[in-house]
Amino acid sequence: MRVAIPKETRPGETRVAATPESIKKLKGLGLDIVVQAGAGAGAKIADADYLAAGATIAPDAASAVRDADIVLMVRGPQGPEIANIRRGAVVAALLSPHTEQDNINALASAGITAFAMELLPRISRAQSMDVLSSQANLAGYKAVVDAAATFGRAMPMMMTAAGTIAPARVLVMGVGVAGLQAIATAKRMGAIVSATDVRPATKEQVESLGGTFVAVMDEEFKNAQTAAGYAKPMSPEYQAKQAALTAETIKKQDIVITTALIPGRKAPILVTEEMIKTMKPGSVIMDLAAGAGGNTPLSKPDEVVEAHGVTILGPTNLPGALAVDASSLYARNLFNFLSLIVDKKTGALALDWNDEIVKGSAVTKDGAPVARS
Ligand code: NAI
Repeated sequence: MRVAIPKETRPGETRVAATPESIKKLKGLGLDIVVQAGAGAGAKIADADYLAAGATIAPDAASAVRDADIVLMVRGPQGPEIANIRRGAVVAALLSPHTEQDNINALASAGITAFAMELLPRISRAQSMDVLSSQANLAGYKAVVDAAATFGRAMPMMMTAAGTIAPARVLVMGVGVAGLQAIATAKRMGAIVSATDVRPATKEQVESLGGTFVAVMDEEFKNAQTAAGYAKPMSPEYQAKQAALTAETIKKQDIVITTALIPGRKAPILVTEEMIKTMKPGSVIMDLAAGAGGNTPLSKPDEVVEAHGVTILGPTNLPGALAVDASSLYARNLFNFLSLIVDKKTGALALDWNDEIVKGSAVTKDGAPVARS
């Protein structure tokens, strides 16, 4: 079977879905790999490195995917790119199933079996394939590094002959994978870190990283986690209580990292404009939810907003700013996924539709979109 790695076409997408390391492993599954020329450029991988790993190089996207049985991408194919892929092929990529349904319908009409990597169930067997985790972890790290670079003061306390500099105060809102890494990174940089989330399980996680947990811990909070491990949308009453607590906390912060997301919905507003007005001049907000509507009303995707003396950053592809590491982890995630759907003895496709990982991540099957509850 042939696996194709086309060059990513979305603006600013620097990552690539396979690395020389993953190609060697894919070949070990009995697969032939074809990489579009230049596909690894954003992640500093030369065509020669892919060749050395045993791939062949195709001059353009159409010739890369034409005879492919499996197409691997970071962001999914769209428009004419879909028409190049043959009926019956499998596509595995981040397909934005909550926002790009038209694209998924097009994949279905083209007879492609598509797997949206963001829908992998959060079960331990799927951990090695979990692209949301591998990418969010890097995003959490880079969020703090970039916020610190924007902040006009130092992060750690410094006791010098010229006097003492107070440590920066960092608040992390939303303690999923990105938030946990943000806490750990800010701690390592010497900041005083506090964090908040609506899921009770996060309290212990924050404290174990040396952060202070700040949250409204009422009855609703105790039940705020879905069976899948995600946050539920909170009631207006809870949100009002949460806002009052945030208003008190936020005045004292220098850097606020927001990562609060609810799959398939607009991100909750956690920091209002009124709260931003109370922040110290020179403070920085790093909003990792800017691509999903933002955790502040002032965040703009991929723009730097200056408002009320505060700098608000809203990058939508922080993993892409660490393309080498992000690609390497993403490629390993995809290799682990392919190990599940390819028969290791015959090298043929072996989709087990009773497997919850296969079932959970499929967005098209038999020429139709997969209905979700
Ligand atoms: P996410 O990216 O969906 O959301 C980020 C964080 O925002 C979450 O912690 C969420 O609770 C929080 N949030 C949502 N609404 C909020 C609000 N109004 N106020 C404050 N915080 C709010 O989360 P992510 O990183 O995808 O993790 C989701 C869950 O999946 C976690 O429980 C995580 O531990 C679990 N997980 C499980 C894995 C596995 O077992 N294979 C792998 C990775 C994550």
